[in-house]
Amino acid sequence: MTLILGIETSCDETAASVVADGEHVRSHIVASQFELHEKYQGVVPEIASRAHLERILPIVESALEQAGVEAHELDAIAVGNRPGLIGSLIVGVSAAKALSWSLDIPLIGIDHVQAHLHAWKLTDKSPASGLEFSQPKSSLGLVISGGHTSLYTFTDPTALTRIGRTIDDAIGEAFDKAAVILGLGYPGGPKMDQLAPQGDPDAYDLPRSMLDKSSLDFSFSGLKTALLYTVRGHPVGRGRAATFERDITAFSSQQVADLAASFRKASVETIIAKLGRALEHLSENGERPERLVLGGGVSANALLRQRIRELADERALQVCLPEMVYCVDNAAMIAGLAYDHFLAERFDTLGLPAVSTS
Ligand code: KG4
Ligand code: ZN
Repeated sequence: MTLILGIETSCDETAASVVADGEHVRSHIVASQFELHEKYQGVVPEIASRAHLERILPIVESALEQAGVEAHELDAIAVGNRPGLIGSLIVGVSAAKALSWSLDIPLIGIDHVQAHLHAWKLTDKSPASGLEFSQPKSSLGLVISGGHTSLYTFTDPTALTRIGRTIDDAIGEAFDKAAVILGLGYPGGPKMDQLAPQGDPDAYDLPRSMLDKSSLDFSFSGLKTALLYTVRGHPVGRGRAATFERDITAFSSQQVADLAASFRKASVETIIAKLGRALEHLSENGERPERLVLGGGVSANALLRQRIRELADERALQVCLPEMVYCVDNAAMIAGLAYDHFLAERFDTLGLPAVSTS
């Protein structure tokens, strides 16, 4: 059995986890900084890196304790070293280097986006995903989070080919901004998802941006602006000086739920339509994938999960969705993907950099 400790500090969650053989989660600790950033309605990088620094060592200790593993029993240390907020990444990378050096075990730097596409394999139940699922297969992968909306083809998740991306806002970011417009607070994605079932998804007609016919790229800023204008009316003046006719207090609680439902439906339908288009493009080129793999915070969205399952059924594809707890940022996905590197003996030196971009 191979035991890897994973560390994740790319944004506003300090996380550590011990995973056995890439799939069996022995411990999974995530300390959210939600309360520190809530009043700013978004993540403040300087506050995030300071909080990581205070929390990282107790979180690593808790992960070992929960797993019932002594540090000397670990086979490797994995850390998400890209992409993310640079000050936050440096905290995790420094802690991982110190552990790797002092325990004299390999250090493995992991790409956070690739790790999201490994998350579906993780479970704390045994047996894990099963042999059929464990085999690598040609896949269409979609990472949907606060920072990414990207489509990939891959067989090996450590070698992704990007075929589409957002040209403006990431879908999670659009959900978060929509929640602010609706007065629901931060982080908005889960709040929108919880409220939507109480509303009528056809009450408001919001746009689905498809870009031109051949494009596999996404755009969510038009949808967000359409919601803003629906709620506040058209702006008088420009930029920061603009004033609006009204705000969300002019809407009843039923109308707010209708807006949340309409926004969720429009964004999910855009994603589903783009996946359909990508499958058609790939089939035309004789590259039809066998598997649809999702990852990232927005893959926790209830409507999206339902629509993805329907799409996979229609197209006779295997669908791989992470368990809810492994959709959002976590360290188990970092430790899990690191197992592939461990088997291939792809190790990093103590010179491993933290890199803000993909
Ligand atoms: O993967 P993640 O934890 O962090 C990034 O790598 O960005 O994703 C966080 C994002 C946030 O924007 C959050 O609002 C969104 O995922 N999110 C959701 C849901 N749960 C989290 N969006 C829609 N529906 C949800 N249920
Ligand atoms: Zn993420």
